[in-house]
Amino acid sequence: MRFAVNAANPVKARTHCLILGVFAGNRLSPPAEDVNTASDGLISRILKRGDITGKAGQTLLLHDVSGIRSQRVLLAGLGDAESLDAARFSLVIRAVVSAIKATNAENVTLCLGGLEVRGRGEGWPARRIAETFVASFYAFDAMREKPAKTLTPGIVTLNLPERARHPALAGAASIGAAIGAGMNRARDLGNHPGNICTPTFMADACLALADEFPAVKTDVLNEDEMQDLGMGALLSVGNGSVEPSKLVVMHYNGGNDDAAPHIIVGKGISFDTGGISLKPAGSMPDMIYDMCGAASVLGTIAAIATMELNLNVLGVIAAAENMPSGTATRPGDIITSLSGQTIEILNTDAEGRLVLCDALTYIDRFKPVTVVDIATLTGAAVVALGSHATALYANDDALAEGLHAAGEAAQDRAWRMPLWDDYQVQLKSAFADMSNTGGRAAGSITAACFLSRFTREYRWAHLDVAGTAYRGGSAQQKGATGRPVPLLTQYLMDQAVMQKA
Ligand code: BES
Ligand code: MN
Ligand code: ZN
Repeated sequence: MRFAVNAANPVKARTHCLILGVFAGNRLSPPAEDVNTASDGLISRILKRGDITGKAGQTLLLHDVSGIRSQRVLLAGLGDAESLDAARFSLVIRAVVSAIKATNAENVTLCLGGLEVRGRGEGWPARRIAETFVASFYAFDAMREKPAKTLTPGIVTLNLPERARHPALAGAASIGAAIGAGMNRARDLGNHPGNICTPTFMADACLALADEFPAVKTDVLNEDEMQDLGMGALLSVGNGSVEPSKLVVMHYNGGNDDAAPHIIVGKGISFDTGGISLKPAGSMPDMIYDMCGAASVLGTIAAIATMELNLNVLGVIAAAENMPSGTATRPGDIITSLSGQTIEILNTDAEGRLVLCDALTYIDRFKPVTVVDIATLTGAAVVALGSHATALYANDDALAEGLHAAGEAAQDRAWRMPLWDDYQVQLKSAFADMSNTGGRAAGSITAACFLSRFTREYRWAHLDVAGTAYRGGSAQQKGATGRPVPLLTQYLMDQAVMQKA
C-alpha cells in the first residue's frame, strides 16, 4: 500500500473510489459540493431521501456517478461540522475502510485528509488515515494452507487542493504508515502459535530486523551466557521447557554515537502454561499472546527505523517458555536473580516478572535515559482497566506524564496506577528477600512493585498490556492488536524532538 498526496479536482480524479465527506444536517464538504454540482445535484437528492444523513460512521456507496471520472463514490458521514474530534474522525476512517473492503477497488482517493480535527495538528488526519488503512488490511494468514483473498488497495491518494500543505500531509502519512506497519509486525509475531513462535523464533525475527535495517544491530544471549552472568530468575522460567531461553538486545543507532539510549524491554513468554502452578484449560489458549510485550518492542524498533528517527534506542526481549515438567521450577523454590536479590517462587505462573527483573538489571550497563518495560503481566490489569487502557506505572512523574501524553496523542491510551510503598509489604517472603507474588489483591500493582525493586538506578516505567495487546475469545475477533506500538513510537518521537531542542 502506497500513499500519495495530490491536488487533482475531485471531479476529474480517475480513481476506483472517491471518498467524500458529508456533515450532519445534509451539509456537504467542499469536494462533495464539487461532485454534487458536476452530477447535477445527485448527492443532494440522495441526502434528501435520507439513506445517509451525515451521521458519523455512516457510509453509502454509489456507482457510475455522472459528470465525474471516478468509478465509485463513497459518501462518508462526518457528524457535526463544528465539533469533529479525534475519536470521531477515527470512527469515520474505520467505517470508510470497512466499506472499501466490500468493494473491488484497487486504488482509492480520500478527500478527508485536509479536515480540521479539534485539538490536533494539520497532519494528524493524514497520519490517522495511513495508520488505519495499513493496520486494517492486515490478516494473519501464515498458518493457512491458502491465504484468504482480501483485496488491498495499492494506492491510497489523499486529495487536497492547497498544494502548500502537501509536504506536511505526505510526511504525516508516512509516519502513520510506519506505525501501522510496526503494529502489523507486532501482531504477526503475537498471532503465531506457541509451537512456531518459540524464544528462538523471536530471536530470529530480531536478527532478521537487523538485516533489513542498517541502523539496527542485534545481539542474542543464549542460556550458557545468561548462566555465566547469573540470571537465575530469567533462567528459572525456562527450566521446564525444551525450548532454550533467549535474551535479545536490538541496538537502533539513529542518534549521535555518544548519546545515551532509551530502552524498551518486552516480556516474551512464547507460551505460558503457568508451569507447575498450571493454569486451568480454559484460560490457556490465549497464552500464545504472552509475548505481545516483546512483539511490541520489535514492532516499535521497526517503526522508528522505518522513519529513521534521530534517537538511540535499545529494544530488549526477555524470551522463555513456561512449561511444567520434571525439570521445571517448583513452587517454594528460592532462586537468585542477577541483582543478587533472592526470590521465593510461590507461584510459577507469576513468571513474567522473573524474566523481566533480570533483563531490567542487565540493561543498567547501557546507562539508559529512560526505560519502559511492556508486559502481558497480570490478569488483574484486565480486571482494572479492561481493553481500553494500558496500566501505566512509573518511578518518575515526568516519564509517566510523557507516556500518558504519547498515548493520548497516538490514540493508544495508558492510565497511571499507584506504585506506593504501602503495597510492597505484600511481597514479603518467609525465607527469601521477596516472594514472586503478592496475592490476589491489587495484583497488577504488586507485580509492578516487584519490578520496581530492580529498577532503582534509572527512570523507569512499566506498561501492563494484558488487556490491550490482544483480543481473546471467539475466532471472529481474536488476535493481537499491535498495541502499544503507537504509544511507544509516539513517546520515542517526542524524545527525539526534545533531545534536539
Ligand atoms: N501471562 C499471565 C497474565 C495474563 C493473564 C495475561 C490473563 C493476559 C490474560 C501471567 O503470567 C500470569 O499468569 N499472572 C498471574 C499472576 C499471579 C499468579 C500472581 C495472574 O495474573 O493471575
Ligand atoms: Mn503466568
Ligand atoms: Zn505470563
